[in-house]
Amino acid sequence: MNEATSRRTLFASAGAVGAAALLAACSAEETPTSTPTTAAGGGTTPTGGTTTGSTGGTGSGGAAIAKTSDIPVGGGKIITASGVVVTQPTAGTFKAFDSMCTHQQCPLSGVANGTINCDCHFSKFSITDGSVVSPPATKALAEKTIVVDGTDIKLA
Ligand code: FES
Repeated sequence: MNEATSRRTLFASAGAVGAAALLAACSAEETPTSTPTTAAGGGTTPTGGTTTGSTGGTGSGGAAIAKTSDIPVGGGKIITASGVVVTQPTAGTFKAFDSMCTHQQCPLSGVANGTINCDCHFSKFSITDGSVVSPPATKALAEKTIVVDGTDIKLA
């Protein structure tokens, strides 16, 4: 009992000393750190908020990435800003695919002769379903969901 009591007392004392040391260390470290963080955060937030707000409004507000008249029947067009290639395999049917080649991630170079083409190693992909028409690529292009709204083509 006496041993246990003295151990408890010892641990309690050590704990109190340790806690006091930690508190001192924490408060000494936190005070200078929290002040600049708050100041930097306050300065950054308005700028970041404004930039993000305008970018988000344009992108997620359903802006058109292309006009239906921009996309030839039996062909397509790479929309670099949106990272997609939009095709029109048959009149009135529009498809969209990721504009990065699945072989070694080169940006696709164009749509010609009924295929979506990569000039890095000359893979060709179907404008209908993005499947590989000509290797070395072995994996189809990822399809993107689009919405045709009148004459506007939008990412869904
Ligand atoms: S990266 Fe497109 S064919 Fe190699």
